[in-house]
Amino acid sequence: MAINSLQDLYLEELKDLYSAEKQLVKALPKMAKNAANPKLQQAFTDHLRQTEGHVERLEQIFEMLGAGSPRKKCKGMEGLIEEAKELLEEDAPDEVIDAGLISKAQHVEHYEMAGYGTVRTYARQLGLDKQAQLLQQTLDEEGKANDLLTKIAESSVNVQAESESGESITSSRRPERAVSRGVASETTGSRKSGSRGSRGSSRTGEATAR
Ligand SMILES: [Fe+2]
Ligand SMILES: [Fe+2]
Repeated sequence: MAINSLQDLYLEELKDLYSAEKQLVKALPKMAKNAANPKLQQAFTDHLRQTEGHVERLEQIFEMLGAGSPRKKCKGMEGLIEEAKELLEEDAPDEVIDAGLISKAQHVEHYEMAGYGTVRTYARQLGLDKQAQLLQQTLDEEGKANDLLTKIAESSVNVQAESESGESITSSRRPERAVSRGVASETTGSRKSGSRGSRGSSRTGEATAR
């Protein structure tokens, strides 16, 4: 479709976000299933519920705009989810996979935040206040989801991943774990890991970048 105005661009960006959210509704259960840390698992499960709400808000907005059902594929989100799948194919300890999952999820949240910040601003500029309000609600939830991931990383996961790298190898290094993991497969079971200490202090990734 030709994009001739800010209104056209607004609709295109909304379609992109809709595709991104729909892809996430499919990917998040697999990320939850493959997270070993219970807090991380819970965070993914809770964000799945929120993500379903994000889909509904966008549908509400399409209805307000009189736009039909969008048929666009968000390639950005497709790529981010693909990277998460690749991570889960790695043969690595649970704690390290968890740290990686947080990284992938935070890339997703920031991608969404950029998208929602943009459409919220367009809606305001176009005088679509109710829509701007709905988009702001989603933007706030994405921000909180990202903050929670940072907290989980700082308080446990990254610390455990760090101690893991210098100590004994957990059972999760057994090759079959890596094989049974995988967001690509619908049949994968959840990974479980043993007790964890809180040794180590080095942290990695966006999780500490404020
Ligand atoms: Fe979302
Ligand atoms: Fe999100």
